[in-house]
Amino acid sequence: MNSSTRTPPHVLILGSGIAGLSCALQFVENAPSDIRVTVLTKAEATEGATRYAQGGIASVWSKDDTFEAHVQDTLVAGAGLCSKPIVEICVREGPARVRELINWGVEFTKTSHHTTDPAEAFDLHREGGHGQRRILHADDLTGLAIEKALLARVALNPRISLLEDFCAIDLIHARKIIQEPLAKDRCLGVYALNTRTGKIETIAADSVVLATGGAGKAYLYTTNPDTSTGDGIAMAYRAGAKIANMEFIQFHPTCLYHPVAKTFLITEALRGEGAILRNGDHESFMENYDERGSLAPRDIVARSIDMEMKRTGQKHVWLDCTSLGEHELKTKFPNIYETCLKLGLRMENDFLPVVPATHYTCGGVRVNEWGESSLPGLYAIGEASSTGLHGANRLASNSLLEAVVFANRVAKHAHEQLKQPSMEIELPPSLPSWETGRAAPLEEQIDIAATWQEIRQTLWNYVGIVRSDRRLERAQKRLAIIREEVNEYYWTYLLTKDLIELRNLVTVAELVIRSAQMRKESRGLHYTVDYPAVDDEWSKQDTVL
Ligand code: FAD
Ligand code: SIN
Repeated sequence: MNSSTRTPPHVLILGSGIAGLSCALQFVENAPSDIRVTVLTKAEATEGATRYAQGGIASVWSKDDTFEAHVQDTLVAGAGLCSKPIVEICVREGPARVRELINWGVEFTKTSHHTTDPAEAFDLHREGGHGQRRILHADDLTGLAIEKALLARVALNPRISLLEDFCAIDLIHARKIIQEPLAKDRCLGVYALNTRTGKIETIAADSVVLATGGAGKAYLYTTNPDTSTGDGIAMAYRAGAKIANMEFIQFHPTCLYHPVAKTFLITEALRGEGAILRNGDHESFMENYDERGSLAPRDIVARSIDMEMKRTGQKHVWLDCTSLGEHELKTKFPNIYETCLKLGLRMENDFLPVVPATHYTCGGVRVNEWGESSLPGLYAIGEASSTGLHGANRLASNSLLEAVVFANRVAKHAHEQLKQPSMEIELPPSLPSWETGRAAPLEEQIDIAATWQEIRQTLWNYVGIVRSDRRLERAQKRLAIIREEVNEYYWTYLLTKDLIELRNLVTVAELVIRSAQMRKESRGLHYTVDYPAVDDEWSKQDTVL
C-alpha cells in the first residue's frame, strides 16, 4: 500500500466501524469518480465497538415524536454542556441517515402491529433519558446488523479499498516534515504498521478522516472491545489538533457481573421495557435517587448504583427483568437471553447481577459542524470525535446517530474542499519514509501487558465514577512514571500493534486526568467530592487541551 506520492484526490479513512464505513460510502456515492477512498483498519474489518451495539439508533420516527422532544432529551442528558446547534443538526438530519442505512441493507426489527403507514413499520425501543420510544434496533444485535450491511455495501464498490491489519501510528503533517517554521499546518497522511508484514508504510492523502472509535480500554472494566484504545485521539493530539471534554467518560449502568462474561452488556432497552434495578435486599432503589427511577439518564443511574453498592457493601446490584416474561425476553432480546441462559441465568426467573463499566468516550477530537478538526485536512467522526452533541453525558443510542450524521457531513465538506485549488503550503513531491533507526525487536512482551494493566487499574481506581483532587493527583503522578517508561520502549524497540496502542493509552489516560483536573465543578459524568455542585460559570465551557 506504500503511496507516499501525492497522486489525484485520495481520502484516507481510519477505522471500519459505522463512522468509517458510512463515510466511505458517502464519498463514493456522492463524489466525482476520480476520488480514491482507502479505509485502513487495525484488526478484522468487523471488529470495533459498532458490532457490539445492542440498544439501537435514536431517531425521530414515530408520529407521536417530535424533533423538539429529541433535542430536549439530548440537552437534558448533556447537563448544560451540549452545543444546541449541533444537537439540532443531529436530530433533524437523523431520519434521512437512518433511511439511508435501510437502503444500504440494514434490517431493523419491524413492529408486530399491523400498520399501513411505512413510517410506523419499525419497532421502537425506549432507553434512559428518552421521553419517547424512538430507538430503531435489530433485535438486540443492532450494531452487528449495521456492520454487516455496511461491509457488504463497501465490498460492492471498486472505488473503496478496505485494508485490514493496518494500524495507523502517527499523522504526517506539514510542520513535522518541513524544517522551516510554517504559519499554517496541514495533515498530509499517515504512517501505518502493516501487522501482517511488520513493515511501516507511508500513506499520503488529501484528507484524513479519523473514525478510530473511543478509548474504553483505558479502564479496567469496560464494555468496549480491544480496538478501543483511543488511537485517533492520541494521534490527533500529538499532531497538535485540539481535544475536548475528555473528563466525560460514560459508565454504562448494567454490565453483567459474572466471572466468565465480565464485559457483557445488558442493554438499557430492557429497562425501557420495564426491567428495574434492585439492591442487595432486592429493593427497588432508583426512586430514592431520581424521580425517573431506573430510566433516569445514564450518569445518574451509574452513580446511584455506585452509591448503593458502597452503602450496602455489595459487589453488584440486580436487574430484575422478570416482569417482561419469557416470550418477550426471548423474542425481543434473543442474544442476551441466550447468553444469560448459557451462564445459568433464566431471565424470566432470575435477577441478573450487574455493575457499571466504562462504556463511552464523550470527549475526543474537537470538530466543527462539518467534522473538521483544528488541523486542516484532518476530520474526525464517530466516537473519536467531540462534536458538541453529547455535552457532559451522552443520551443513550445517540452515538450511532452522530456517527452517520457526521460521516455524511464530512464527505460533503471534504468533497467541496477537494475541488478547491491546493493549499498555500509548498510541499515536497513525496512524503518522507518512516525511520526505524536502531530499534531492536521487542523481547519483553510481558512488560507491555503489565504496563497496560497498570494504566487501566489506575484509571479505574482513581478516575472513576466518583473523583477527588487527591485521587486525580495520584493518578497523574503514576501516569507520568508510566509515560517515561513507555517512551523508552517506543524509542528502543521495533513497533508492534501492542506498543502503538500502549503509547496511545498513556496519552489518552493523561488527557482524561488533566481534563478532570481542569473542571472545578461536578457536571454530568464528571463528579468530584471536592466540587460537588454544578458551577454555572462553567456551564458553557468545554475542557480543551
Ligand atoms: P468503532 O466502531 O469502535 O470503530 C473503530 C474502528 O477503528 C475499528 O475498525 C478499529 O479497528 C479501527 N481503529 C482504531 N484504531 C486504529 C488505528 N490506529 N489504525 C487503524 N484502525 C484503527 N451506541 C448507540 O448509539 N447505540 C447502542 O445501542 C450502543 N450500544 C453499545 C453497546 C456496546 C457493548 C458498546 C461497546 C457500545 C455501544 N454503543 C452504542 C456505542 C457505539 O457502539 C459506538 O460509539 C460506535 O459504534 C462507535 O463507532 P465508530 O465507528 O466511531 O468506532
Ligand atoms: C444499550 O443498549 O444499553 C447501549 C446503548 C448505548 O450505549 O447507546
